[in-house]
Amino acid sequence: MTTIGVLTGGGDCPGLNAVIRAVVRSGLRQGYDILGIRDGWLGLITGNVEPLTDYSVTGILPKGGTILGTSRTNPFKTEADLQRLQDNVRKFGIDAIVAIGGEDTLSVAAKLSRMDMPVVGVPKTIDNDVAGTDYTFGFDTAVAIVTEAIDRLHTTAESHHRVMVVEVMGRHAGWIATMAGIAGGADEILIPEVPFDLEDVCRHLRARYERGKKFSIVVVAEGARPKGMETAIVQSTKTDEFGHVRLGGVGNFLRDQLEEKLDMETRVTVLGHVQRGGTPTAHDRVLATRFGVAVVDLIREKDFGKMVALQGNAIVSIPLEEAVERLKTVDMDLYRIASIFYGG
Ligand code: F6P
Repeated sequence: MTTIGVLTGGGDCPGLNAVIRAVVRSGLRQGYDILGIRDGWLGLITGNVEPLTDYSVTGILPKGGTILGTSRTNPFKTEADLQRLQDNVRKFGIDAIVAIGGEDTLSVAAKLSRMDMPVVGVPKTIDNDVAGTDYTFGFDTAVAIVTEAIDRLHTTAESHHRVMVVEVMGRHAGWIATMAGIAGGADEILIPEVPFDLEDVCRHLRARYERGKKFSIVVVAEGARPKGMETAIVQSTKTDEFGHVRLGGVGNFLRDQLEEKLDMETRVTVLGHVQRGGTPTAHDRVLATRFGVAVVDLIREKDFGKMVALQGNAIVSIPLEEAVERLKTVDMDLYRIASIFYGG
C-alpha cells in the first residue's frame, strides 16, 4: 500500500484546496492512502497528520485558503527538526510527499529530494514567480481582485481629481502589478525588477493632467523601489524562517512624494491579504486540479524530485532543482506594453 503525505506551505492562495481535493480523489481512486500534513513542514516535524478521505475534501473546490493550514516553517533550521521530520516520515509510513508551495517550500522539497526522500512539488503563489511554469495557480485570482479594485478606484479618482496609488503584493517580481495594471488601464506600473525614477513618474502624470485627464492610477508592487534606494521599503525588519522581512510602505512613500511634487491630492490603497483571500477563479480551479492529478501520476511512476508545471497549455514535469534555482521575473516585453499607455 502506498501512502501519500500532502502539505501546503508558505503564504496561502486561492486554489490550494482544489489541489488537495485532486490529490485525494485521484490518489484514492488508484488505491493509495492519503495523509494530510498540518501547517506545512511543521506538521511533519511535530507529527501532526491525519488521514484524508473523500469526505474530507467534499465541498472544498471553491473555498479559498487551505484546509490543511500552512506555515513558513523551515525544517533545515535545526538538525533536530530535520531528524524529527525524517523520523515522522518513517513512523507514518509515508512513501511520497506532495509539497504544494512557492520558492521556500519548494526549495525545502528540493533539498529533501537531494537526501533521497521521495518528494514531488506543486507550484503555488499569487506572485507567479516560480521558474519553469508559465503560471502558478492563485495568480489569476489575485489579478482579478486587483483589476476590480483598480476599476473601482478609477471612478472615485475621476470624481475627486486625485492620484490613486494602489500597493499590491509582489516581493521580488511584479507580475500582479503588471497584469492587473494592464487590465485596469493603470497610468503607471512600478515593479521590483525596474527601479523607478520619480521624475519620470511625475512627468507621465503631469502629461495626463495637461491633456485634461485630471486623475491617475499608479499601481506599485510592494517590492518596488526608487532608483538609488538599496532595498525595498519594509514594515518590519523581523525575518521569517527563510530570512524574509515583511515588505510594505512603498505606497505611502509614493503618496507623499507625488503629492508634494505634483501638487495633486493623492490617496493610497494597500490591498494586502485581500489579494490572497476568497474563492479561486475558474481558471485557477482548473489549473490547480490539473496539477493535483498530474502530481499523483508522478508518484505512480515513482518520478520523484520533480515539480508539475504549466508550459503552453500542457502540464509537464521539471526537476525541482530547476524550479528553485532562480525566480521568474516579469517578462519585459509585457512590461513595455504597459508603458505605451503612460501619459495618455
Ligand atoms: O505569498 C507571497 C506573498 O504574497 C508576497 O507577495 C508577500 O510579500 C508575502 O506573501 C506576505 O506574506 P505574509 O502572509 O507572511 O504577510
